[in-house]
Amino acid sequence: MERTLVLIKPDGVEQNIIGKIINFYEEAGLKIVALRMEKANEEVAMRHYEQHNDKFFYQDLIKYITRSPLCSLIIEGEGAIEKVRKINGSTNPIKAEKGTIRNLFAKSVTENCVHASDSLESAEREIAIWFPN
Ligand code: RTP
Ligand code: MG
Repeated sequence: MERTLVLIKPDGVEQNIIGKIINFYEEAGLKIVALRMEKANEEVAMRHYEQHNDKFFYQDLIKYITRSPLCSLIIEGEGAIEKVRKINGSTNPIKAEKGTIRNLFAKSVTENCVHASDSLESAEREIAIWFPN
């Protein structure tokens, strides 16, 4: 069964909406098969976002993602990668489709509440980073 890696980013945890966010995925018939909460260290954050290390927003991104605890989840289901990306909505909340998590809760293009893997390869890579065991 297809698996994807989701992060409820620090702003999601800070807003007390962990439960609300998880509910979106469960309501869509997806299964939470692993869940952790931790303050990410810089090394893990840099590995996770290594594809962005040359972007202008990279320093802000690492600072944001490591500033307070986040939740990492493995979510399973048929077409889970695409389904979760749809539920999350576009990166920029101004452009995010109505009723998506980012449309409802994201504050800015950086502080956008959630992350989800964008392909089978990135799901495999990211699951190994956040769930090494
Ligand atoms: P994610 O990887 O977190 O699921 O988000 P995404 O695919 O929708 O967006 P991506 O392009 O991979 O960007 C990763 C994260 O970097 C932050 N960002 N800030 N200030 C900016 O212009 C900017 N652009 C991206 C966001 O937190 C974004 O989710
Ligand atoms: Mg991405």
